[in-house]
Amino acid sequence: MDTGDVVYLNAASTGPHPERAVAKGAEWLALRAQPQRITIPHMVNAAQHAREHFAAMIGADADEIALMPNTTYGLNLAARGLPLRPGTILTFDGEFPSCVYPFMALGSRGVSLERVPFAEDGLPDETELVRRIGRGDVVAVVVSWVQYASGFVTDLARVGAACRAAGAFFIVDGIQGVGVRPIDVHALGIDILASGAQKWMLSPWGTGFVYVRRDLHDTVRAPDVGWACMTASQDYAWLTHYDDTFLPDARRFEVVTLAYHDFGVAVEALQAMRDAGGPTALEAHIAALGDRIVAWAAERDDVRLWTPADRARRAGVFALVPDDLDAAMNRLKAAGVVCVPREGAVRLAPHGYNTLEDVERALAALGG
Ligand SMILES: Cc1ncc(COP(=O)(O)O)c(C=O)c1O
Repeated sequence: MDTGDVVYLNAASTGPHPERAVAKGAEWLALRAQPQRITIPHMVNAAQHAREHFAAMIGADADEIALMPNTTYGLNLAARGLPLRPGTILTFDGEFPSCVYPFMALGSRGVSLERVPFAEDGLPDETELVRRIGRGDVVAVVVSWVQYASGFVTDLARVGAACRAAGAFFIVDGIQGVGVRPIDVHALGIDILASGAQKWMLSPWGTGFVYVRRDLHDTVRAPDVGWACMTASQDYAWLTHYDDTFLPDARRFEVVTLAYHDFGVAVEALQAMRDAGGPTALEAHIAALGDRIVAWAAERDDVRLWTPADRARRAGVFALVPDDLDAAMNRLKAAGVVCVPREGAVRLAPHGYNTLEDVERALAALGG
């Protein structure tokens, strides 16, 4: 992966394409200049391989995956498609807005969004969330697996069990974790998980997916309906034999013509990640880099680690709160370290291509 002469610690914003994905993209663009060389199986296979890769990343089956342009579209499918009775949807305070706005918009259906305040340590209060789930009026819970700013990792097994006990739907924004941490959506009882692939999955903007648990395929009412959702549209030669029978699997939630070339690039990026050991190996690598960040922060009194120190509660997002954020960001920039400020903290987001030397360079600059 070529990130030039800078240290790129910003996968939580945009993941760089592996070289082989770039080559695949050039191949696809050349084909797009001569569409006569592209066959329908070529396009359809790229999409199917993408579904298979995404499914493998999260322990799902490919027929439970619908390709999406991003995370938020999948979360909208959850918000508007699940049969929510009037009541409360719970989320954490401080969530990325894609976990907030689609659910805030349900007021006219008698469904309100309630944000559980931060715990005293400034992290999501999972204990309070679980307590409120059992209250009786909670119809769904939507949380990020990994918080985009603090890096806190939700205990999905714990929250999922509470949701099941309460009969509440369990919706997860997976974008800050999928790809670099193993997850088994079946075992966790997740109903819907949405994720863009542009960050940790090193794939193009405009690629992502939504997992919809198989048992819910007939229950979720697609808010957007298009020609691509229907079984009758599979024969492109006869599209006007209208029959609104939805496809039997999660492809029923794919509404329009897909960005086949982008998903073709995503397949290559996901294969590169798989060849690098997949989520298990990447998690171990990133956790080891994180150990260094945690140890460094523990020795300083001018920088506070917002991210939990416990490996089980952190993934690839590390939030460090310096006394002077602007000065720290300027030093990092001058040292050629690419990272961003989020919610008052410096966010370091190392991936599999980063080394301990990268992390040391960032910490040296951060420390001043
Ligand atoms: C937790 C979380 N959800 C969603 C998104 C982005 O949503 P989308 O893929 O719909 O643009 C981000 C990006 O920063 C994020 O951190």
